[in-house]
Amino acid sequence: MQKFNIKESLGGAVPMLLAPMAGVTDAAFREVCRGFGAVFTYSEMVSSKALVYQDAKSVGLLLRGGGEFPYAAQIFGSDPIVMADASVKVLELVSPEIIDINMGCPAPKIVRNGDGCALMRDPALAGRIIAAVAVAAGNRAAVTAKFRKGWDSGSVNAAEFARIMEANGADAVTIHGRVRSQLYSGTADWDIIREVKSAVSIPVIANGDVASRADASRCIAYTGADAVMVGRAAMGNPWVFSADTPRPGSAAELLQTALRQLKRAAELKGERTACMEARKHFSWYLKGVRDAGHYKQLAAQAVTLADFSAIVSSAHSQRTASYLA
Ligand SMILES: Cc1cc2nc3c(=O)[nH]c(=O)nc-3n(C[C@H](O)[C@H](O)[C@H](O)COP(=O)(O)O)c2cc1C
Repeated sequence: MQKFNIKESLGGAVPMLLAPMAGVTDAAFREVCRGFGAVFTYSEMVSSKALVYQDAKSVGLLLRGGGEFPYAAQIFGSDPIVMADASVKVLELVSPEIIDINMGCPAPKIVRNGDGCALMRDPALAGRIIAAVAVAAGNRAAVTAKFRKGWDSGSVNAAEFARIMEANGADAVTIHGRVRSQLYSGTADWDIIREVKSAVSIPVIANGDVASRADASRCIAYTGADAVMVGRAAMGNPWVFSADTPRPGSAAELLQTALRQLKRAAELKGERTACMEARKHFSWYLKGVRDAGHYKQLAAQAVTLADFSAIVSSAHSQRTASYLA
């Protein structure tokens, strides 16, 4: 069996990937983004410990969408043995082409346990984790790490960290150009991405503040990265991945796609859960639209697929009425 080749799969002039985002990038949303041109999609981050204990909710987070290829499953944790065991579990469950290790999450409840971005303060341990996961995965999956510029502005170590990842068997790295202490504020530093790119010979995926295809092109030209990963700009906006379909301007058209996503989510995780989660997705889809407040209010009260369908129908009638007026 040949290991999945990341470099070869990053074809096209501007390869854009959908970032892993907990509470956002479920299989239904990933399918929609792929439809608009996202090259890879990642699961939400899943706890290695919870996977080893077979926690049903965590297993559910790994669900792979129909035709989702290549698929990257992201896990977090800081014990190399548990991470290796969790990787074996992931391979059994969803056979992803890529196992991505989260070394960038800044959330206090994650770093407090030594997980996520806390690993940037212990690069030797991070290296042992990558090595353990690479051995566990063998040729069955490529192994990648996603991390930040550093822990804080006084300890920027992304380039050295990337070298350690490569030396321990990483097949690619993703670098988010912010330090942990910035969380998601300020601007992402693309210079550090450029530095990482020149520090390693494995593919480098750039992340941070890419809000359009034009940004993605600029980021690739500036940093030399092999691909870009888009996070927040994709929320309610899968059109960000499209080379030829611009984001529609009307609530009716935007919500048509939101409804398609919701119907798929309902098939995958049940109507009730999908509808509760659709409230936030609808609100993101409505960003920047006239009358957004009105539709958001309706979505906040909707509980069934029929309720959401009615909102979309009313947006369509509204649109037709304004054409005829
Ligand atoms: C709501 C939310 C959830 C996130 N969850 C994850 C996650 O599960 N794993 C991860 O590696 N990064 C996670 N991130 C970080 C993003 O993947 C990405 O690195 C970050 O948002 C910067 O990219 P952007 O400027 O394109 O948004 C999350 C970000 C947001 C906003």
